[in-house]
Amino acid sequence: MPSTTRPQLALVVALGCLAALIAAAAGRAPDPAAEDPAAPPASERFGLQHWPLDDAAARGRVVYEEKCSGCHGPEGLGNGDAAAWLDPRPRNFQAGRFKFRTTPSGELPTIADIAHVVRCGLSGSAMRSFPLMPESARNDVAAYVRSLAEFGLVRAEVEYFMEEDDMTLQEVLDEEYDELVPDILEGAYESVWPVSVEQRPEMDADSIEQGRVLYEAQCVACHGATGRGDGSSSYHLRDWKDAPILPRDFTTGIFRAGSAPKDVFLRLRTGLNGTPMPAVYGSDEELWHLTHFILSLIEDDLRAEPHPVSCDAHAAAGAAR
Ligand code: HEC
Ligand code: HEC
Repeated sequence: MPSTTRPQLALVVALGCLAALIAAAAGRAPDPAAEDPAAPPASERFGLQHWPLDDAAARGRVVYEEKCSGCHGPEGLGNGDAAAWLDPRPRNFQAGRFKFRTTPSGELPTIADIAHVVRCGLSGSAMRSFPLMPESARNDVAAYVRSLAEFGLVRAEVEYFMEEDDMTLQEVLDEEYDELVPDILEGAYESVWPVSVEQRPEMDADSIEQGRVLYEAQCVACHGATGRGDGSSSYHLRDWKDAPILPRDFTTGIFRAGSAPKDVFLRLRTGLNGTPMPAVYGSDEELWHLTHFILSLIEDDLRAEPHPVSCDAHAAAGAAR
């Protein structure tokens, strides 16, 4: 890029002065914060660097900056240096859409859910596992990741006020902010029903057959008759960023967040936020039948080694948030 020449610079400076003069002449109200020397300008009061962190999240930020920001980005926006080469892309944590949870559709995950992903990784993606990271560090980094999500939800709402109601950042902070933060955080953790993953019936021929019937009614359009992810609508699916996304091919045996029956059951019960994969309605029994049918589609020679026991879905229902 050619560097700016001196005459161009002079012109820019002159235009800047002119704009300031015009603004002053038009009698524009001065920034209220500028009048009160005690109040820092809004931009210095609102931003990730000012977001309050508890002790665990503050420790987690150090771990995050060392191990995660290269992919997930310095502010968790999914835009680290490596991101452009990855498919699927690293998650933008500030968007608040987490796929792998024990919490109901649309909600944020528990800290235990995030720590579980860190421990076990996500098969078929660049998200590696961190089995040797001490458990305390995994919990800390998970707490920080969830703070990023909370900040992101609040930030989106602040921006919404600024755009839709034509407010300045200062006005939003003065007039809306104190109510907005608790409202948003409450909404993100609204529901308290526990996701039960106990009492799995036997995976026998009868259960698989009942699962097949449910699958044909509810899943074929996306996942296809043989479960290869090639149903009639599979090529038109898009995620929340409007990027194309394919349904999972069950025959490969690669389930991103684990192929233990409990893992698959949880994915059905909660859905994958931000993707067309919906939370499936039905009784626990029906979801187990579906789980069994899906697992029966894995080709025999592709059956993965079972995960280490500690990577099986944790029954984190009710775990500390
Ligand atoms: C080499 C790149 C890379 C690194 C390093 C990395 N991630 Fe990821 N991560 C990804 C990708 C890619 C995905 C998305 C996978 C998908 O869409 O299924 C992801 C997804 C996740 C998710 C899943 C969120 C959800 O939707 O439920 C969590 C949580 C996560 N990463 C946390 C971390 C943490 C914490 C660290 C650091 C300890 C980390 N990641 C390091 C690439 C990376
Ligand atoms: C509207 C399309 C659509 C429908 C209907 C649908 N799915 Fe999905 N499903 C998807 C997409 C897309 C993904 C992949 C999401 C991703 O890559 O993050 C997916 C992923 C999955 C996964 C993978 C979880 C993992 O850990 O990898 C399972 C299991 C699953 N679907 C089961 C089902 C079952 C069972 C039904 C029917 C009750 C169903 N799906 C209905 C689109 C759909």
